[in-house]
Amino acid sequence: MAKMNLKHFSSIVLAAFFCTQIFQLSVHGVDASSKLYIVYLGEKKHSDPEVVTASHHEKLTPLFESKEEALSSIVYSYKHGFSGFAAMLNESQVHILSDMPDVISVIPNGKFAAHTTRSWDFLGLDYSSHSNSLLQKGKYGEDIIIGVIDSGIWPESKSFDGTGYGPPPTRWKGICQIGDSFGTNNCSNKIIGARWYASDLSSSELEGEYMSPRDYAGHGTHTASTAAGNLVSNTSFHGLAAGSARGGAPRARLAIYKACWGPSVLCSTAALLAAVDDAINDGVDVISMSIGGPNEFPGTLHAVAKGIIVVFSAGNEGPAPQSVKNNVPWVITVAASTIDRSFPTVITLGNSQRLVGQSIYYEIQSSNTNNFTTLVDGSSCDKTTLTEQNVTGKIVLCYNPNAIPQVLPRYNFGEAAQNVLDAGGRGIIYAQYTTNLLQQRRGVPYALVDFDIANKINSYIYSTSNPLVKISPAYNIEGKQVLAKRVAAFSSRGPNPRFPGILKPDIAAPGVSILAAVNGGYQFMSGTSMACPHVTGIVALLKSLHPDWSPAAIKSAVITTASNTDSYDVQLEAEGTPRKIADPFDYGGGHIDPNKAADPGLVYDIDPNDYTKFFNCTLGPSDDCDTYVGQLYQLNVPSIAVPDLKDIVSVWRTVTNVGPINSTYKAFVQPPAGVSVFVEPNLLSFDSNNKVKTFKITFVANRKVQGDYTFGSLTWSDSLNHSVRIPLAIRTIIEDYYADTA
Ligand SMILES: *[C@@H]1O[C@H](CO)[C@@H](O)[C@H](O)[C@H]1NC(C)=O
Ligand SMILES: *[C@@H]1O[C@H](CO)[C@@H](O)[C@H](O)[C@H]1NC(C)=O
Ligand SMILES: *[C@@H]1O[C@H](CO)[C@@H](O)[C@H](O)[C@H]1NC(C)=O
Ligand SMILES: *[C@@H]1O[C@H](CO)[C@@H](O)[C@H](O)[C@H]1NC(C)=O
Ligand SMILES: *[C@@H]1O[C@H](CO)[C@@H](O)[C@H](O)[C@H]1NC(C)=O
Ligand SMILES: *[C@@H]1O[C@H](CO)[C@@H](O)[C@H](O)[C@H]1NC(C)=O
Ligand SMILES: *[C@@H]1O[C@H](CO)[C@@H](O)[C@H](O)[C@H]1NC(C)=O
Ligand SMILES: *[C@@H]1O[C@H](CO)[C@@H](O)[C@H](O)[C@H]1NC(C)=O
Repeated sequence: MAKMNLKHFSSIVLAAFFCTQIFQLSVHGVDASSKLYIVYLGEKKHSDPEVVTASHHEKLTPLFESKEEALSSIVYSYKHGFSGFAAMLNESQVHILSDMPDVISVIPNGKFAAHTTRSWDFLGLDYSSHSNSLLQKGKYGEDIIIGVIDSGIWPESKSFDGTGYGPPPTRWKGICQIGDSFGTNNCSNKIIGARWYASDLSSSELEGEYMSPRDYAGHGTHTASTAAGNLVSNTSFHGLAAGSARGGAPRARLAIYKACWGPSVLCSTAALLAAVDDAINDGVDVISMSIGGPNEFPGTLHAVAKGIIVVFSAGNEGPAPQSVKNNVPWVITVAASTIDRSFPTVITLGNSQRLVGQSIYYEIQSSNTNNFTTLVDGSSCDKTTLTEQNVTGKIVLCYNPNAIPQVLPRYNFGEAAQNVLDAGGRGIIYAQYTTNLLQQRRGVPYALVDFDIANKINSYIYSTSNPLVKISPAYNIEGKQVLAKRVAAFSSRGPNPRFPGILKPDIAAPGVSILAAVNGGYQFMSGTSMACPHVTGIVALLKSLHPDWSPAAIKSAVITTASNTDSYDVQLEAEGTPRKIADPFDYGGGHIDPNKAADPGLVYDIDPNDYTKFFNCTLGPSDDCDTYVGQLYQLNVPSIAVPDLKDIVSVWRTVTNVGPINSTYKAFVQPPAGVSVFVEPNLLSFDSNNKVKTFKITFVANRKVQGDYTFGSLTWSDSLNHSVRIPLAIRTIIEDYYADTA
């Protein structure tokens, strides 16, 4: 029906995309069969936004009975960064629009769910002024403007205090849009602008919400403070993770775009596009979107073409392969990793045996928990099994050895805990595969344990007539003793389900148990949503240090300097089923290393026209694409993914020297198993006349198999300390179909 231009989408992703709920609006003069569609018209053809809007009206008027009807169908007009609109349309109107020559695509609106003290020191960004980390070199992000598209902001948090900031940079053109519990004084020289987008939502979807930029869910406040919160000393969560909280670029300015609503933080394509359109025009330097779902709309392409760096979360659907979201090449897609902090929680059994789990359980004064309580076996802790015995006032072990295959790798702690509390239980010991996904449960003693410990507790229960247990409040340990930097189990994985020739995710950053600001305090959250603003903060510092670098150059610096090992030089792992050595489908280039990213030596730069070409030949109009299709890996990204190596494939890349003028680099290859790799030339010499060099990488299949992906790397090293590494992911095939993609 509609001109979707989605020819290279995998059908599975397409199905998921269109199954997302499309909601009905009651707009005057629009018939009941109408739904919200987004009509994309590409570059705007006029600099005056009013003229652009008028052209939208003109286009729609013939499709309606009157001009008024046409006007009232429009929910958002995109007229600043690009041209298009979101309107309530019926099927015949969609058909007519799709056939118009200047309409690039018509897509139904979709809805997507949104997907810190310690983490910054862990990344080597020491706040103290005597150190010379990227934080100091990047002037703490001073005068960089970060646009956060999320669920809004809680302006009273100390993390956003505007005291001590000068006026916003003169290029800033945004506004402070007021509303419920949000006045003009809620913007400051820290929160320099705020807007909200609710036109496409029904009143039931907005129940309880603030009709303003004020954050109802806490998610937007958390991500904004992780990216750019002020240094606030003496923060903690009930004594846990005590220290100073701050964002990655603590002096950067924040521009808030509230496009996600309600307790489950739902964001619609139409509202997200309106936010991106405004952010481009307002003058932000970086856009941060911790939002799950297939958001490869071209709005972000226009932002990147204007020099704005766009950072997205990779999604929380791991460890299943092909689960990575936000797969277009012009954005940075961020996976989540653990940091070097854990929260041991001691469990003492009635026989004095001490076992250790994890939680963020803290004691509240009124409770009397420092005592032994009866322990019962709740098995899988579903509603039925809990009715089979009296759990009132008891601590319940939730562990069903026979159900392990079903519980892996899901995390049903939240549901099980609620079942236990509903049945009258006092506390929970919950067995699951990873014990680091901690939840807040005010005053409820709990601990997550692995199956080994669960077995020990289970045997104890059946060894005595009066099983007792005591759960002590959690404490925290941090530093080298904690196994850190594992890719989190929930972090979405490659290969890229839409464009297998583009490697995703791009990079991993901390995203597990991150403490940051929320409404009225500081709270732990986990997710790629938390990893995304870590990268946002770092790219803001890089932009401050290298104001003339393109978004592609900054992305390249981040990816090519990432680390693949921990502080003991042991290869990083990825949590999953089973845990394994991490590969590029888990973390792209690796774990982010901000100080190295400050001085990458070489960058893989990309002209925005090449992104447009990529868009035109995949999602947009397809002029001139014959040689392009099937060769997406020729785009100059800092990684190479070849999904279909039959015999031999050659890939070209171009690097730009941003290090010392006179430099020579030598190529080092770690070939993927079963593949030979040749680099020509394998020496690159740069001087004042030769800053840009192109080279060819040839892959030759040594195995004739319908194969799985194997991984390697190509590193350019100079005689100094520059080591510019890109990941390689190559799959050999015999037939022209895609086989095992795991
Ligand atoms: C769509 O709306 C237009 C204008 O109101 C109307 O003329 C047309 O019949 C409608 N088409 C369908 C399929 O409902
Ligand atoms: C924000 O605005 C609200 C409503 O005008 C006001 O009550 C509140 O004190 C303001 N907060 C700040 C930090 O200025
Ligand atoms: C930190 O905060 C706690 C509780 O708010 C307070 O008791 C303590 O004195 C504070 N410490 C410092 C160093 O400010
Ligand atoms: C602790 O538990 C024991 C045994 O159940 C009970 O006798 C005692 O009164 C409890 N202590 C407190 C402080 O509740
Ligand atoms: C369950 O146990 C509690 C505490 O021991 C007791 O008060 C309650 O009466 C019991 N309920 C039933 C249905 O046996
Ligand atoms: C992409 O398509 C648009 C619309 O057809 C066209 O104007 C533009 O020149 C194309 N750009 C590239 C780089 O192919
Ligand atoms: C680079 O090398 C050229 C030729 O050897 C020399 O003239 C020039 O001074 C060098 N430049 C720098 C910055 O070292
Ligand atoms: C290379 O790095 C090491 C360790 O980071 C440092 O000690 C050394 O001075 C660096 N060398 C150069 C030439 O920059």
